[in-house]
Amino acid sequence: MLVGRKSDNAIVVNSNRHSANLALIGFMGTGKTTVGRQVAELLHFDFLDTDELIQASTGRTIAEIFSREGETAFRALERRVVTELGARTRTVVSTGGGLPANGDNLTVLKTHALVICLCASPEKIWERVHTQTHRPLLQGPNPQEKIRGLLSERQPFYLQADVLVNTDYRSVREVAQQIVHQYKVARSDRK
Ligand code: S3P
Repeated sequence: MLVGRKSDNAIVVNSNRHSANLALIGFMGTGKTTVGRQVAELLHFDFLDTDELIQASTGRTIAEIFSREGETAFRALERRVVTELGARTRTVVSTGGGLPANGDNLTVLKTHALVICLCASPEKIWERVHTQTHRPLLQGPNPQEKIRGLLSERQPFYLQADVLVNTDYRSVREVAQQIVHQYKVARSDRK
């Protein structure tokens, strides 16, 4: 099982494709937003976060959308954001943890971006998220079990990323630098 293993190496699955953008996918608590901001800074790219775009366009928090309209409505909003990303270049986009597991979001992302998955063990994820309250999917009675269940459901999607980076034992800076390196390798492969 790849998600959660201790390897320090990034695993490149497929980098030989046009990629004017970078997309970060992965479970809640893997550091997509924090890392994504650093990667954008290092590459002098724009930075977008799909949850932030959804909140800005609806004027609601993710928790409000889940509680008033339900998860299905939230997934439709995510789908719309993914479609709109096609018009972007030189952008790092951090995506909500469930986004690549729904519809053809992952396929669409892969046509516009080099897709990087940030991986972490369920224990590390719990360590990072247990004090936070803004994620509706983890507010139920047994969040640790929920993390394990969702991780195993989503793993087949996460594993389709072009590059997999384990974040368990690395700083944000190290992960960001690794991603920049992989992006440059992917770009130079095309020349
Ligand atoms: C979700 C992850 C969240 C957010 C929403 C649903 C998920 O984003 O999109 O709460 O389904 O895993 P983060 O991965 O940035 O926490």
